[in-house]
Amino acid sequence: MKADIKLVAGNSNRALAEAIGAYLSLPLAKAQVRRFADMEIFVEIQENVRGQDVFIIQSTSFPTNDHLMELLIISDALRRASAKRITAVIPYFGYARQDRKAGPRTPISAKLVANLITQSGVDRVLTVDLHAGQIQGFFDIPTDNLFAAPLMARDIKDNMDTSNVMVVSPDVGGVVRARALAKRIDAPLAIVDKRRERAGESEVMNIIGDVSGRSCILVDDIVDSGGTLCNAADALLANGAKEVYAYITHGVLSGGAVARIASSRLKELVLTDSIQPTEAVKVASNIRAISVATLLGEAIGRTATESSVSSLFD
Ligand code: R5P
Repeated sequence: MKADIKLVAGNSNRALAEAIGAYLSLPLAKAQVRRFADMEIFVEIQENVRGQDVFIIQSTSFPTNDHLMELLIISDALRRASAKRITAVIPYFGYARQDRKAGPRTPISAKLVANLITQSGVDRVLTVDLHAGQIQGFFDIPTDNLFAAPLMARDIKDNMDTSNVMVVSPDVGGVVRARALAKRIDAPLAIVDKRRERAGESEVMNIIGDVSGRSCILVDDIVDSGGTLCNAADALLANGAKEVYAYITHGVLSGGAVARIASSRLKELVLTDSIQPTEAVKVASNIRAISVATLLGEAIGRTATESSVSSLFD
């Protein structure tokens, strides 16, 4: 590994940053990211970064605004310390769901956040499973959007009999993502189609595809409240599915989501560690995490040596 790479970790996911460092045989750079009494963020990079290729590892996960601000301030500190190139490694890019005007006089916050990151001095971005691929274009700097699907496919093949598996998208918007995973494990695809027939009536969940007797795998980018997932699992079981698993890249898991999933009929939810798993996640009997450390470590190494990252998409 080139000696002039530095890895700087924010506070969002220290465990993942350390795992990436271990993969690259590189210690994390000495840096302090702390708060003043009034909760302003203060950053001090405690080693020389002049002329170096620096990678900041920081997910903009809960508390999103604090972690975003940390990322911006770390980048500013590095830029003013004359780092040669700054790459923001953002395993989970928060605000991504606000990627279009959802109504009159509403913001496109994902674009605003991309602008803020660029303006802070970041030269390139490395991320995983953006909520929508087009968000890549919100950054006017090189942005690599890696996929967790190869890791998920490997985990499924290692742990399940794929001959009876059906991959399921929990909504129509997620079909492209689900189809990509289905193709990797050579499984058929079904779709949960949520429809409200008339205003005021509750949503009806229709399943497109025959799931009876199948081991279903729900695939999504984000699990937040867990509502989408648990409702889809119930609908699949009501339609004769044998059992339901879920593979989801980003475990946002707000509020009572972990309890909801723990008491749901989901056999297992497999997340990545793009967001640091909480204690509640770690002890939940039906939630397991697989790591994106190797994927990100490899992408960082290749970026540093100006090699292609495209084979990481295979
Ligand atoms: C939505 O477009 C996303 O892909 C997820 O389906 C959604 O964020 C999940 O949210 P929740 O867990 O709150 O239903």
